[in-house]
Amino acid sequence: MKVFHNKSELSQHLEAFKATSSTIGFVPTMGALHKGHLSLVEKALSENDIVVVSIFVNPTQFDNKDDLEKYPRTLKADVGLLKHTGNNKVIVYAPAVEDIYGGNVQSQSFEFGGLENEMEGAFRDGHFDGVGTIVKRLFEIVKPNNAYFGEKDYQQLQIINKLVELYQIPVEVIGCPIHREKDGLAMSSRNTRLTEQHRKAAPFIFKTLKSAKTKFGTKSAEKVTEWVKTQFSKQPLLELEYFIIADTETLKPVKRKSTKKTYRAFIAVYAGDTRLIDNIALN
Ligand code: PAF
Repeated sequence: MKVFHNKSELSQHLEAFKATSSTIGFVPTMGALHKGHLSLVEKALSENDIVVVSIFVNPTQFDNKDDLEKYPRTLKADVGLLKHTGNNKVIVYAPAVEDIYGGNVQSQSFEFGGLENEMEGAFRDGHFDGVGTIVKRLFEIVKPNNAYFGEKDYQQLQIINKLVELYQIPVEVIGCPIHREKDGLAMSSRNTRLTEQHRKAAPFIFKTLKSAKTKFGTKSAEKVTEWVKTQFSKQPLLELEYFIIADTETLKPVKRKSTKKTYRAFIAVYAGDTRLIDNIALN
C-alpha cells in the first residue's frame, strides 16, 4: 500500500489512474481511524477502482489550541488498519501542515447559505471555514469521482454538499450512516480520550437522543428540548452544550413542526474535557 506525504507525488501517481478512466473514491479523515472510518473505506472500495484516504489533523478547523494538541495522532496504526482493509487498492495521503498550507496556515472565508452559522458553527468559531478550506484543497489535489463522509458530522456533510454546489466541483458526495459502539456511543476518534468514568457515562447521549425521538412524535420541539436539558442536569459527568431539533435541509431550529419537513436532533456534550457530538433522524 502506497503512502504519500507530498501532494505533487500523489497527484502524479493519480494521473495514471485517471488516464485509464478508473474511478477514484476519497475518504478524508483526521486519522485515529476506527470502525466507522473503515466502513467508509469499505463502501468506497466497493464503488471505486481505487480509494485515497487522507490522514491530516487540519489546524484551521480547531478553535481550541488544546483540542488541536490533544487530538490523537496514530499514523502507524492507521496505515496498518488500512493495509488490512484495502491492501493495494488503498492509497494514503498523510501530508504535513506545510504541504497543504505552505507558510500560510489560514482559512479561506466561506458563506454556505447560512448553514455555517448553526450549531457547530455557532459554538466553534471559524470551524467551517477551516473544514471548507481543507476539503476544497483535498478535492483539488485528489480529484475524486466520489467522496465519503459520515453522518455523525451531519452539518459538515451538508456544508460539503453546499461547497461542491457553490464551486461546481465534479465530485459525488456520499453520506454514510453513523457507526456506533455496542452501547450506542457514536464512534469517534475523540472517544479514545475519555476516562473510564466518562466512557461509562457517554452512552447516555444516544439513549437520550432515542427517547427524544419518541417524544418528538407527540410533543413540540420546545418541550422535547426542555426534557433533554433536565435529563442532562441530572448527569454529573456530562455537560450539555446544546441540544437542537433542526430542519434537515436548512439546519435552522424548528419553531413549528410540519409534516412536509424532515427533522433531526443534534447534540454536543462535554464528557470531562472531551467534546462529543451526535445526531438522530426524527421523522
Ligand atoms: O470529519 C473530519 O474528520 C474532518 O472534518 C475532515 C472532513 C477530514 C476535514 O478535516
